[in-house]
Amino acid sequence: MLFEPIEIAGLHIPNRFVRSATHEWLAGEDGTPTPAIGDMYEELAKYDVGLIISGYSYVNPAGKSSQRQQGIYDDRFIGPYRQITERVHKYGSKIALQIVHGGRQALVTPEYPQTLAPSAVKDSSSGITPQAMTKEHIQQTIEDFAQAVRRAQAAGFDAAQLHIAHGFLLSSFISPYTNQRNDEWGGSVENRTHIIVDIIRRAREMVGWDFPIMAKMNATDGFGDRGLDAPECVDVAAALESAGVCAIEVSGGIFEAGEVMSRPGINSPEKEAYFREYARMIKQGVSIPVILVGGLRSRAVMEEMLASGCADMVSLCRPLIREPDLVVKFREGVQEAECTSCNGCFDEGGVRCNF
Ligand SMILES: Cc1cc2nc3c(=O)[nH]c(=O)nc-3n(C[C@H](O)[C@H](O)[C@H](O)COP(=O)(O)O)c2cc1C
Repeated sequence: MLFEPIEIAGLHIPNRFVRSATHEWLAGEDGTPTPAIGDMYEELAKYDVGLIISGYSYVNPAGKSSQRQQGIYDDRFIGPYRQITERVHKYGSKIALQIVHGGRQALVTPEYPQTLAPSAVKDSSSGITPQAMTKEHIQQTIEDFAQAVRRAQAAGFDAAQLHIAHGFLLSSFISPYTNQRNDEWGGSVENRTHIIVDIIRRAREMVGWDFPIMAKMNATDGFGDRGLDAPECVDVAAALESAGVCAIEVSGGIFEAGEVMSRPGINSPEKEAYFREYARMIKQGVSIPVILVGGLRSRAVMEEMLASGCADMVSLCRPLIREPDLVVKFREGVQEAECTSCNGCFDEGGVRCNF
């Protein structure tokens, strides 16, 4: 099944392999994407990755959360991104732009001294308490995300992916731990997903209905039912589907929860696919394609995830940093990725395998 094509809202993807969004630390200081990022994506396309998802791109300078992160907050980025998408489209791969606002995990700078979040819940990993967003902040954020979707389409991306995972702004809206509002933006699942519904509605006014908008969502914050977790994540996924999201990548973890997102030491089939049960539940609750990420290392487990109804696609981050040609190797009979999940690839000098 791994090498069978799939359609996401009419978008033809030649196989089931996704390059999960990976921050490369390769953009300019102001977020301008560089040819070095294009080199990476072109290599993945050359080696048959079906769907490439970009590193997370911030929709507003106040939402930047890492050095040398890509931006998409201004029309001046459309040209440089277009050069990148054209390089990918020389091959059969599709490419999506992941869009994000850092929220309570954004960088604190002299220009942006105050982080923003649905509620003023202190981030114990940084010691910083964000400012609770006003209604004006929320309306501005809806516009920022929608404009980013428009720019993604104008730059030749095949889709956009809303980053609703890992503790960043949209993820902090869907979590009952970080969203303690009692107005129309907090409380019930309907209210916690309200901002996403409005982003998609506004984006649709600009890009129409043919441009796929996907989501990477947290199924768990990473500390049990103190935060978002099962079974509520299924209701969140269903609400995203109703809002018009056309594929869901299932992930987990916020900064405060430690190494939940990119779990280290994946060295046996049992440790692989560590969000598999969340994906299985979500897949039963939605009818759009579900993409599983997190610790997928062996071809057999990937096949099993598709065959057993956990997911429709498999998404890889660290293995493709080490072996950008892994999809081709799998097709030629290799059974295991070389990645040891050491997390040495979190390299501010530019993403690379440092094992
Ligand atoms: C260096 C690095 C950068 C990452 N950047 C992003 C990102 O920009 N957006 C995102 O959603 N996840 C990001 N992640 C998380 C991965 O996409 C993925 O969810 C996680 O690493 C688990 O998958 P894996 O076991 O295949 O690495 C990053 C992970 C790593 C290791």
